Amino acid sequence: MAILVTGGLGYIGSHTVVELLNNGFEVVIIDDLSNTERFILKNIEEITGKKPVFYPFDLRRKELLTQVFDAHQIDGCINFAASKAVGESQIIPVDYYENNLFSLINILQEFKTRKISNFIFSSSCTVYGQADVMPIDENTPLKTPESVYGKTKQMGEQILIDFAKAYHSKISLLRYFNPIGAHPSGKLGELPIGIPNNLVPYVMQTASGIREKLNIWGDDYPTEDGTAVRDYIYVVDLAKAHVAALKKLIDDPSSDAVIDIYNLGTGKGSSVLEVVKAFEKTNNVEVPYQICARREGDITIAYANPDKAGKELHWKSETSLEEALRTVWEWQKYLKTRNS
Ligand code: UD1
Repeated sequence: MAILVTGGLGYIGSHTVVELLNNGFEVVIIDDLSNTERFILKNIEEITGKKPVFYPFDLRRKELLTQVFDAHQIDGCINFAASKAVGESQIIPVDYYENNLFSLINILQEFKTRKISNFIFSSSCTVYGQADVMPIDENTPLKTPESVYGKTKQMGEQILIDFAKAYHSKISLLRYFNPIGAHPSGKLGELPIGIPNNLVPYVMQTASGIREKLNIWGDDYPTEDGTAVRDYIYVVDLAKAHVAALKKLIDDPSSDAVIDIYNLGTGKGSSVLEVVKAFEKTNNVEVPYQICARREGDITIAYANPDKAGKELHWKSETSLEEALRTVWEWQKYLKTRNS
């Protein structure tokens, strides 16, 4: 079966392509290389010994997308391609709506015309905002996200639900908590393009001396140590959940709409200070930090109840925070040797 993976050279996309290839799927990648680099493709090939088809273009180019669907018998899509910088999305909102939603709609037009089912959407726990009750399960009420980025995720979900109902399609909305870590081969990970916004890439760069100090955004939260709590999920575990979600859609015999929604996390919350200390201990390095004011738009606490994914996908997170942080440091070493 051939699966279209948009954004397949990105952080979560590249790890998912590896899992798809290892599970016998053919993969067609479309990626405009706006937030990644070409060597990731070569590394995917080295890891898997297989060669995915790759098209470098922006999904808003409808005519090129049609050509890909003409050239390949596509059986499903995992859609990672999207702009994802929260701060930037507030500054250039129209570009975020255009990029994230037009690309989705263009793929869905092809799905509609060709009667293709099986669509997996990369969503985020940001759709819950600051939930009132922990852990967060799939019935937790959605709140309007603070950021434009988050709103594009919520709108994307809504578009897909309407699509599934109207065309009796099968969709899966995967709401990620905080993905971290790198491939055990040391050849795939989150590429640090610009100054990182997310915690773990910033910790990694501080430990290696690229950044002087980590700014911890607030230690006056109502949590045990005062720093905010998140659910950090290892990227390879997350990638495996995509394959499980895809197989479930493919195997579903129903001719009605299927709308699956899963929270993908470990089920365990870790504070910012816990992550910093675990990184230092696991990798035997120092991460200098200073406490700063809270970051605007941040929530206090979010961790998943992943039971539904456990039950229906037979999936659970298997990798510890420490092991995930070890792979981050291996990835940093790899990047260093590449750049030297
Ligand atoms: C952020 C996005 C979220 C997105 C997710 C993707 C915001 C407000 N939310 O989530 O929409 O889906 O990334 O991974 O940006 N922290 C520091 N110092 C840093 C960086 C982070 O103390 O330099 C803290 C943050 O305040 C937060 C925690 O670390 O408490 C995690 O931050 P981050 O990795 O940016 O993820 P989220 O804010 O949870």
